[in-house]
Amino acid sequence: MKPSKEPLLTVTEIHRRVAELAETLSSDFAGKEIVVIPVLKGGFHFASDLTRLLSLSLTLDFIRARSYRGERSKGTVEFLLLPTEPLTGKHVIVVEDILDTGRTTAAVLDRIQAENPESLSLCVLLDKPANREVDVSADYVGFQIDNHFVVGYGLDYNEHYRELPAVHILESG
Ligand code: IMP
Ligand code: MG
Repeated sequence: MKPSKEPLLTVTEIHRRVAELAETLSSDFAGKEIVVIPVLKGGFHFASDLTRLLSLSLTLDFIRARSYRGERSKGTVEFLLLPTEPLTGKHVIVVEDILDTGRTTAAVLDRIQAENPESLSLCVLLDKPANREVDVSADYVGFQIDNHFVVGYGLDYNEHYRELPAVHILESG
């Protein structure tokens, strides 16, 4: 398996869209204290670019989740890292690489909601609605894509290709 030669989303397209999202978020959260929580590892690159374009006062925290996809434990999500800053009364924006079945995201949102934030929003780079198994939707979406397995700009295949600057379809061969 390897990344397609031509990207599905080019560096230019990604950066243009990230700048648009940053502008929308900056306007929607103007005057508010926000906490941005990238979901590791995949949300790291997106959140890094996005936060540097926000004209908002913000703090950063992180969450890391691992989901099991085997039949018997399907839907089980384990947290390897949890936010350490108090989130009660804060406007929290969770930043994720991709919304696929929605299982990981739903568990992340439940976990953060338990801290009683003032508001909780979800910002994803990619949305694959075709694959959704649980009812989750993002408040902010970079791109809706068809049901491809994609790598790059944070997204991995067996931990590889996260560092690619663009998003590519994973192809056999
Ligand atoms: P979920 O199915 O919505 O729970 O997605 C869980 C995780 O699967 C995402 O956070 C990604 O790490 C991974 N994932 C889903 N689709 C893709 C893809 O197309 N490329 C790389 N990782 C993916
Ligand atoms: Mg992954």
